[in-house]
Amino acid sequence: MSRASEVLEMQAVVIGKPGAGVDAWTLVERARPEPGPGQVLVRMHAASVNYRDLMIAKGLYGGPVKEQLVVLSDGAGEIAALGDGVTGLRVGERVTSAYYPTWHAGPYRAEHESASLGIGRNDGVLAQYVVLPARAVAAMPASLSFEQAATLPCAALTAWQAVFEGASRLVAGESVLVQGTGGVSLFAAQLALASGARVIATSSSEAKLARLQTMGVRDLVHTGTHPEWHEQVLRMTGGEGVDHVLDVGGAATLARSLQAVRVGGRVAVLGLLGGMGQTIDPLPILFRSVTVEGMHVGSVSMLERLSRAIDRLAIQPVVDEVFEVRDAPRALAKLAASTHFGKIVIRVP
Ligand SMILES: NC(=O)c1ccc[n+]([C@@H]2O[C@H](COP(=O)([O-])OP(=O)(O)OC[C@H]3O[C@@H](n4cnc5c(N)ncnc54)[C@H](OP(=O)(O)O)[C@@H]3O)[C@@H](O)[C@H]2O)c1
Repeated sequence: MSRASEVLEMQAVVIGKPGAGVDAWTLVERARPEPGPGQVLVRMHAASVNYRDLMIAKGLYGGPVKEQLVVLSDGAGEIAALGDGVTGLRVGERVTSAYYPTWHAGPYRAEHESASLGIGRNDGVLAQYVVLPARAVAAMPASLSFEQAATLPCAALTAWQAVFEGASRLVAGESVLVQGTGGVSLFAAQLALASGARVIATSSSEAKLARLQTMGVRDLVHTGTHPEWHEQVLRMTGGEGVDHVLDVGGAATLARSLQAVRVGGRVAVLGLLGGMGQTIDPLPILFRSVTVEGMHVGSVSMLERLSRAIDRLAIQPVVDEVFEVRDAPRALAKLAASTHFGKIVIRVP
């Protein structure tokens, strides 16, 4: 038994070498935190990697990071202790972290950005114990393992908002174009398919297209064979275009996304995988009466609704690979290489 004065240690992965990209992460021992009033202590069991974590490790996203910043925003674990005044949660409850701890409900506001986890001065979740505000955790879907649930807070929630909660959300029977086979796009494909939508998917890989097919996506476009992929999308939709495009390529894809959408349709601008800073021609937006909708991950209330829907729709997150925490830099390197299909997860010992 430890004496009260003894400092309990835990493992955590931190940014040890800021700006070093896949070499930035370092496994360290540090003191276990204690929950304060209104907070919970979560014993993390798994965390997942997002594209933004690679950008943070490269020093290209969110400005300078504090010394030894704990990485990652998306974790799943069990509540280990409750701080004073916390009600409605119990020790042992299985929860996921919320990407924006201050965004509980209602519309997104700019101040939530600086509160997100694993960035700037805000420690993230790749540690054995993490303190979070009690209002910034959501009950895990009962049907998922910790490794699966750790994929929900960013990628799945972004897809959820884009498909079901955006200003121009999906209506049953509509069509959706998803781009590539990363976390956001695969969740969007699964959610849209589960709601009876037609899904058209692009990928730069024949093997990944074959995997999409096994998931039930029937309309597939190889972007290597068809660099003008929007023409294939128009052909597949009888020349009309799709109802929704979920754009994750940014500068590399937005102009074609605006050609692939139907008159009166919507392009949700979600990602910047292909860069930013591109000048966009306003003509197709006006000419095709397109709604262009930018979106940020989602609120705690949306995460709760997503978690319930995951159980009801029996959606199994697509986990590409689970790495041990000592191999965390290899997980980041795999994301950087773009060889993954779905989510990359790290198990917390
Ligand atoms: N707005 C938000 O709130 C929000 C939330 C989450 C993520 N995001 C952003 O959304 C984007 C996707 O995130 P993610 O976590 O799904 O990333 P990811 O898992 O790293 O996705 C990578 C995959 O996307 C495809 N891809 C790569 N470059 C592409 C390009 N130029 N055009 C089209 N597809 C490309 C590739 O699939 P194939 O190999 O199959 O071609 C690649 O394997 C990122 O920019 C991320 O920062 C935004």
